[in-house]
Amino acid sequence: MSDTEKGLDWAAIESWDRNYYLHNTMAASEYTFTGVERVDGNYITLANGARLLDFQSQLVSDSLGHRHDAPHDAIKEAMSRYGHVFFGMATDYRARAAKLLIEDVLGAPKSWASRVRFLTSGTEAVENAVQAARLFTGRSLIMTQAHSFHGMASGSTFLRGYRGNLTLPGEGGFAQVRDIPGVPAPGFLPIPPPEHTDFQADGSLPSLVATEQLIRACGPENIAAIITEPMFGAAGLMPHANYYRDLYRLLQQYGILWIDDEVLCGAGRLGEWFGYQLTDGIEPDIMIVGKGINGSSLPSGGMVVNHAIGDFLESARWWSGSTWDGHPLVCASIVGTLTYMLENDILTTVKARGDYLRAQLEQLAARHSLIGRISGAGLYLAVDLVNDQGTPLLEADRYTAFSGDLTQYPNAIISGACAEKGVFLGGFVPNTIKCAPPFTITEDEIDTAMQAFDFALQRLAETYTASQGQVR
Ligand SMILES: Cc1ncc(COP(=O)(O)O)c(C=O)c1O
Repeated sequence: MSDTEKGLDWAAIESWDRNYYLHNTMAASEYTFTGVERVDGNYITLANGARLLDFQSQLVSDSLGHRHDAPHDAIKEAMSRYGHVFFGMATDYRARAAKLLIEDVLGAPKSWASRVRFLTSGTEAVENAVQAARLFTGRSLIMTQAHSFHGMASGSTFLRGYRGNLTLPGEGGFAQVRDIPGVPAPGFLPIPPPEHTDFQADGSLPSLVATEQLIRACGPENIAAIITEPMFGAAGLMPHANYYRDLYRLLQQYGILWIDDEVLCGAGRLGEWFGYQLTDGIEPDIMIVGKGINGSSLPSGGMVVNHAIGDFLESARWWSGSTWDGHPLVCASIVGTLTYMLENDILTTVKARGDYLRAQLEQLAARHSLIGRISGAGLYLAVDLVNDQGTPLLEADRYTAFSGDLTQYPNAIISGACAEKGVFLGGFVPNTIKCAPPFTITEDEIDTAMQAFDFALQRLAETYTASQGQVR
């Protein structure tokens, strides 16, 4: 059926969107309208008829591809009995989703996990976790890795490594950055990111040596928790293999809680149920989930707590909650997704496809000197783009304030060229490309994406050679 037959007038839609929607990350002067007509499986069909292979699962979120039967059928079934039910009442879907996650996936009662609260976004779950850590410990300070990302509300935004909350136009293009007034906020302290230097050192990791110094300088008795990402989502970076083992030792030594933010890496993305399971013998105190737990079929998030925190909070009246906590349709989508993943041994698929993808990326790296480090696990592999010296193409790298002409950023050149070849693939920070296809990806589709990436890397090499020796 054509758009006209369906009554979709894309010219009108574009004008309403341009005039009335408050857009993210792009100024009106540079806004590109990308109308999406529909999404099916691993593909996005645009209003102009183009079909894109979604090799990024949108925001590394739509883990089962688009409109997967598992969450969708569960939502449809739930809609025959439920719309909204507030948190003061219980539904079968809320109880079943909690049981699936805490018992079937996380192994309660024998494991560290005791309870979960389901929320409507990862951000909201982060906010709950920070409050829970502060209430439990009676301490205020939250430490957070530079370059990490934990959401964009007033609390969680202080936990992120990106400072350019507004990049304003003016002389020299988009060169002026305005942070949210009050940043950095009291109560939040950045620790060094587990970056390149960790890989150059022998023995102790420089980022953790500096973290320990900060812990001692602030006084562990003032620190409620350190929040981390297993692999950085927005920044596309997998820490050194010893990083979490050694960070965990520090947390134990100084009696500080660990908030493990698995919104992006959890629910199978890294080839384990949760990213912390890549390291033996470590357990979060609080774990945050989102995105993949229902394939992003509906807005979702959740906070899992350990036994001590769960018992403490359940022994009290915790005056918290939002209208949508434990929403039956969201919980149904979680039930549908987790059941499907368990019954179909999704982790084996993720590992197998991830191995195939890594092998193809390594072949590309052998031909393109622009490819530096390839890091990640399972179906989330991040590719760093480097110059002849092996250092980031754009010097600001993960400290970017997203200023200047973003169309010339390496990630934008790559995503533009990939789109020409029918593949949605790019990255958030300038020098890193995030390969994170849905778990439903096939080897043939990985080949298609790699051909597009190959073409895009050639385009990048030409652009940067041609750009007044900017890089080469
Ligand atoms: C690690 C991490 N934490 C939290 C969030 C915020 O989640 P949401 O966008 O669902 O609010 C994100 C979103 O990308 C994320 O990647």
